[in-house]
Amino acid sequence: MSRELSLAEIFQLGYYWETKILLTAVKLDVFSAIGEQSRDLDDIAGRLRANAPTLSLLLNALVAMKLLTKEGESYRNSSTALKHLVRHSPQYVGHLLLLHDAEWNNWGQLEETVRTGNRSVDRHVFETDPELGGNVLAVLNRIGQQSGPDFAKRLKLVGRERLLDLGGGVGTNAIAFCQVYPELRATVFDLPATLKLTEKTVKEAGLESRISLQSGDFNRDQLGGPYDVVLMSDILHYQTFQMNQDLVAKAVVSLAPGGRLIIKDRFLDEAGTGPAWTTAFTIHILINTQHGGCYKTSEAMQWLAHAGCVSTEELEKTAVVQGVKP
Ligand SMILES: C[S@@+](CC[C@H](N)C(=O)[O-])C[C@H]1O[C@@H](n2cnc3c(N)ncnc32)[C@H](O)[C@@H]1O
Repeated sequence: MSRELSLAEIFQLGYYWETKILLTAVKLDVFSAIGEQSRDLDDIAGRLRANAPTLSLLLNALVAMKLLTKEGESYRNSSTALKHLVRHSPQYVGHLLLLHDAEWNNWGQLEETVRTGNRSVDRHVFETDPELGGNVLAVLNRIGQQSGPDFAKRLKLVGRERLLDLGGGVGTNAIAFCQVYPELRATVFDLPATLKLTEKTVKEAGLESRISLQSGDFNRDQLGGPYDVVLMSDILHYQTFQMNQDLVAKAVVSLAPGGRLIIKDRFLDEAGTGPAWTTAFTIHILINTQHGGCYKTSEAMQWLAHAGCVSTEELEKTAVVQGVKP
């Protein structure tokens, strides 16, 4: 049994001030305004068109949070802020934080949602703000580039030639898979707005001849095929159980006999109480999507079995499941 929380830890859980200070600083673009220089308050306030006395309170808090340093009356970015929070840095991750900030008001609806069971949003970010959605995918792509090749190797896809990456985003997995398996060709299927970015990342990876892009709505449009492998990575938590059951069945139709359907997502354990991160992610999905949810591994297995798959198995605990088309 894990130990109980202390009172101090309970207070810490309920304390979000620093979160909103950081998100606001990213929204104002404080870190880019400071850039590589040491700048005084009036200079930064002028660049941000902000009220200097108020801004100074925010900057001082950011100093205490170790994101800035202060010498005399001048502020500098910490090396981490310079690397990850200044817009022109190739390792900028601010878009992800901007997404959290954009969802801030939705979190305010949590009490009402729990009381009534009614959701407060009617569409998810990829539909409401494709530009922000695309920028977030680009950040996730950069992070995913590190784990993608290992994931590809663990799946042991040698001998498979045609991959469909359904809701493949900017092509993070398709690119990693093609890099690991030289005989593989991939189709990235996604919404038209997302594919504009995918075109860029595929070109940067020099894989235009092996990765094709198919634009459409996977719930409405044909998926093409036949494929040897269909990958559904982080797409099912935006949808209802029934939509997922239908989409999995459709994906299986697009597979050749013996083809593998691989689902990578954030699954919950049977009790619904773990993994811990996923239980919080479930709430995030509850208040930021129209009808999404996190599902149990056993429910994903049910979709695969319902679609007629055999040899269904959990390849990675609460993360990856697979079914094979007979
Ligand atoms: C969280 S991203 C996952 C991207 C990628 N599979 C990965 O693992 O990095 C979800 C993706 O699903 C796409 N998507 C959402 N609804 C879709 C739909 N109805 N048809 C096609 N793509 C959709 C989004 O555009 C986005 O690229």
